[in-house]
Amino acid sequence: MKIIKVKDNVEGGRKAFEIIKDEMVAGNVKTLGLATGSTPETLYNELVASDLDFSTLNSVNLDEYVGLKSEDDQSYHYFMKKHLFNEKPFKNNYLPDGMAADGKKECARYDQIIADNPIDIQILGIGENGHIGFNEPNSPFEGTTSEVELTESTIKANSRNFEKQEDVPTHAYSMGIKSILQAKKIILLAYGPKKAEAILNTIEGPITENVPASALQKHDNVIVIVDEKAAESLTK
Ligand code: GLP
Repeated sequence: MKIIKVKDNVEGGRKAFEIIKDEMVAGNVKTLGLATGSTPETLYNELVASDLDFSTLNSVNLDEYVGLKSEDDQSYHYFMKKHLFNEKPFKNNYLPDGMAADGKKECARYDQIIADNPIDIQILGIGENGHIGFNEPNSPFEGTTSEVELTESTIKANSRNFEKQEDVPTHAYSMGIKSILQAKKIILLAYGPKKAEAILNTIEGPITENVPASALQKHDNVIVIVDEKAAESLTK
């Protein structure tokens, strides 16, 4: 893993942007793997402000809440449109369909999308408990897209974006860890003290399904961009 320490999320967004830009200019990107959450917002601001053209690219997102319509302002569809897609049109934007009638079929459909659109660069945030996408602790490293039950800790952390905690969906569709590891390059972003323990476990801890992001140690092209607070527990 390559670790890049930055001052704050603005500098982190800028670094991630530069990596993506260089790969795009070199002609290495057909599909971008994208993430939601507040962490990638500064990166998306950079992409929007840039003169990069995404109209020949596809995007594949990590996850979506089960039970939210794409127009719902808490859905990840809505988030992505607001922060990136409305400003920067892509050829195709793929996300799981939170309203799919048949969860198993939806997961199979999404796995086919990932197979048809190999991810060149995957952007990741990280949950306070070390989750990536919505792969909660003890998700199998061999897992593909599945419907997952969110942990209390994730529901609590994500409730800040909802009016009340009871409004947070209890389930989500998430790309699996196996699919995430198939991306050619992975950029993990983490900012703030609440991410320090997860970052320590991800980078210096054992590779264990108890810390989903520790699976990234098995990938040979991972860049971790952390601010000073998120890096404060690292010893090396
Ligand atoms: C959600 C998303 C993750 C994201 C995490 C952290 O659970 N499914 O992809 O990494 O939140 O969010 P934030 O960046 O807001 O801390």
